[in-house]
Amino acid sequence: MVTAVAYRLAEQHRQIEETLAHFHLTKDMLLEVKKRMRAEMELGLRKQTHNNAVVKMLPSFVRSTPDGTENGDFLALDLGGTNFRVLLVKIRSGKKRTVEMHNKIYAIPVEIMQGTGEELFDHIVSCISDFLDYMGIKGPRMPLGFTFSFPCKQTSLDAEFDLDVVAVVNDTVGTMMTCAYEEPTCEVGLIVVDLFAQDSHRQDVWFPCFGFVCISHPHHLPFLSVLTLGTGSNACYMEEMKNVETVDGDQGQMCINMEWGAFGDNGCLDDIRTNYDRLVDEYSLNAGKQRYEKMISGMYLGEIVRNILIDFTKKGFLFRGQISEPLKTRGIFETKFLSQIESDRLALLQVRAILQQLGLNSTCDDSILVKTVCGVVSRRAAQLCGAGMAAVVDKIRENRGLDRLNVTVGVDGTLYKLHPHFSRIMHQTVKELSPKCNVSFLLSEDGSGKGAALITAVGVRLRTEASS
Ligand code: BGC
Repeated sequence: MVTAVAYRLAEQHRQIEETLAHFHLTKDMLLEVKKRMRAEMELGLRKQTHNNAVVKMLPSFVRSTPDGTENGDFLALDLGGTNFRVLLVKIRSGKKRTVEMHNKIYAIPVEIMQGTGEELFDHIVSCISDFLDYMGIKGPRMPLGFTFSFPCKQTSLDAEFDLDVVAVVNDTVGTMMTCAYEEPTCEVGLIVVDLFAQDSHRQDVWFPCFGFVCISHPHHLPFLSVLTLGTGSNACYMEEMKNVETVDGDQGQMCINMEWGAFGDNGCLDDIRTNYDRLVDEYSLNAGKQRYEKMISGMYLGEIVRNILIDFTKKGFLFRGQISEPLKTRGIFETKFLSQIESDRLALLQVRAILQQLGLNSTCDDSILVKTVCGVVSRRAAQLCGAGMAAVVDKIRENRGLDRLNVTVGVDGTLYKLHPHFSRIMHQTVKELSPKCNVSFLLSEDGSGKGAALITAVGVRLRTEASS
């Protein structure tokens, strides 16, 4: 009897180990991920391969990071989730540099969020109009060069304002710019957020629409920046213009919005994806897309964990073999819970209490296993993110023919900020995989609002420099 129980437990232990081993990535595997990311980056940058590339390497038309001489008043829009912010940002140069921000938040009604790009633009315009009234700024041609435009066929826009130029920027670029304002070696932006993919249909409506505006008007320098927020993970960095074959010109640099979340969408990560990753992808709203992002960013991690727990429960390793309703619920493992469960300071009893809070009735052994599962999944996420980042910093170093590169990465995102281990493991991975780069990480503060305004400010500075 005793032997039978011992045998069953040993077998259970073996099966658990075997399952979780799929999440273990060796240094060689991570180096391989880094190499593949690098190859995909090249495909995105080259004219001939760009259209079919999965890592899109979108030119942002941001040609410089701030140098501190930016000065003036700028409008910015920050679009994210169900809210939308309009900001007036006053940037002052000189000995005592200051950035003063005024903003107002507007809701985006669900019908509009799920509606057409046109409806969204109309809504944006009426919010800008309200904000200008609120700030006492008079239109239609606003002072301080507040003339901006959406170069789309938008009759109502034309009717309401004399809109001239708009820049559309990704949140990673805003993050990089905000950090670069404080730290000039910041030439990379990184985001690892934890919003759930239920928003992801939004990108299909918004992103191509904004992307079109931005890409089709590279020659325009903005006074107004619009920031788009996504739902997962992404990075941007300063690339040499000569390598950006999708944009004319060889001089200087340009910030590239990598859209690295789509890495692996061509199957190049299939050998490291597990059945749980496939399940999470299959049941997501954008199946087959953003595969790298789905192994990295917060809420997907919770989903991977949940799927492993369901499997373990079915096999009788957890929760007395009972699959409860909460366990069947998509999205219950938010980043905050993962972060709490993995906190070293938390005793098992507290882990149990958290699981209880989630409606999961656990024993002490269950809590240990849940904590292990969370740890394995988030560790892999941090390592994969680090491998991607290693590819980016080494590319910058090689671009410049340097033996060693000192670079700072501006970072935003709840997973990075809240999780007790993610940042440390990610940093360590970058260090191991890119030993010739000395990489620092700087947390971004309001990368969306401030970043968008700084992009505008830099654009205006470059234009002034070019004309003088
Ligand atoms: C989007 C990116 C965005 C990232 C972080 C991704 O889902 O595709 O554009 O930068 O989320 O918000």
